[in-house]
Amino acid sequence: MDGEDEPLIVLRRGDSVRAWLNVCPHAGRRLDWAPGEFLRAKNGDLVCAVHGATFELDAGTCVAGPCRGDRLRAVPVEVRDGCVWLAPDDAPAVA
Ligand code: FES
Repeated sequence: MDGEDEPLIVLRRGDSVRAWLNVCPHAGRRLDWAPGEFLRAKNGDLVCAVHGATFELDAGTCVAGPCRGDRLRAVPVEVRDGCVWLAPDDAPAVA
């Protein structure tokens, strides 16, 4: 942020969308093993490719691994006209 490009993780299910910075709270590395390629647990949780931290995808909380209890940094997004857009920081979260 602050004028810098930042990779995002975007999860969309119909009109429900969530986004987080693609930065692991453990060591600040990207979670994907190749650009846009993510590891998923059998239950759908997101797994960091670096050291295996596992994140549930409601609040982005780490539920297992070296940063258990930490969270991915949420980015406000919304669906408008069928597309995902960055939302103002004070916009209500879309569930
Ligand atoms: S950087 Fe993600 S678990 Fe270590």
